[in-house]
Amino acid sequence: MTARIISGTETARQIREELIKEVANLKANHNIVPGLATVIVGDDPASQTYVGAKIKACQALGIYSANYPLPAGTSEEELLKLIADLNTDPAINGILVQVPLPDHIDENRILLAISPDKDVDGFHPVSVGRMVIGQPGFLPCTPHGIQELLIRGGVETSGAEVVIVGRSNIVGKPVANILLQKAPGANATVTVCHSATRDIAAHTRRADILIAAIGKPKFITADMVKPGAAVIDVGTNEIGRTPEGKRILSGDVDFDNVKEVAGVITPVPGGVGPMTIVMLMANTVRAAKLAHE
Ligand code: GUN
Repeated sequence: MTARIISGTETARQIREELIKEVANLKANHNIVPGLATVIVGDDPASQTYVGAKIKACQALGIYSANYPLPAGTSEEELLKLIADLNTDPAINGILVQVPLPDHIDENRILLAISPDKDVDGFHPVSVGRMVIGQPGFLPCTPHGIQELLIRGGVETSGAEVVIVGRSNIVGKPVANILLQKAPGANATVTVCHSATRDIAAHTRRADILIAAIGKPKFITADMVKPGAAVIDVGTNEIGRTPEGKRILSGDVDFDNVKEVAGVITPVPGGVGPMTIVMLMANTVRAAKLAHE
């Protein structure tokens, strides 16, 4: 039997519609307009594409966006000054500094400077600490989007064996912590595999929910998947270009073969990808509400 596909495009659309209503209600009944500041240093084309998509998403939802495209030569002090100004700007509820930053800027110092109340990326160590101990805070967007995909896709997480392949700070580690919480949509038994794991397939074959966040195209093959498992593919690997120059993406999962074994699966593109931006919007709306409590 072929796996049921959980569409991130469709799930993100549903959440967007909920947010549009929420933003309209905040404006009509409380005169609150959520605001997001995006900061990008230099002219990395991929970063420009990502930030452009975030700005467009704000516009579509009625969220105010203030955009700061800064030259590659911007100093760390200049960037810290901008963040200090945004931290106290009442029109701004969320601050997003796109990473990677140029080498002469200390990324950790910049992330630490963002007020945890405006940390809609969930990258600040205070946000990370809150996530780990299960206190309310901003969850990072991709891992939070994965949890939403599981919940809305009808995948039971409580008591499930979750195996995550990849231990990055932006996906593997946070999604492990989120699904480990004693909370609805979590409560899982979590294993994290990485480059030093002795027998990755022995772990992945035990997984009720397998989350692939390695960054290697088609790394997860059908023989590594338990029949009926839920497979979440976080990979977005560029494997070539069309004659028109469009990027050809492959996930970390060998989709065509794994879909014959898995019970549910997310595609690439159209799976986890669309969830990241909509969760950023959700965090920004939440930040605006918290700022007015
Ligand atoms: N670079 C790649 N993904 C992200 C993200 O989610 N947030 C930020 N700030 N930078 C990124």
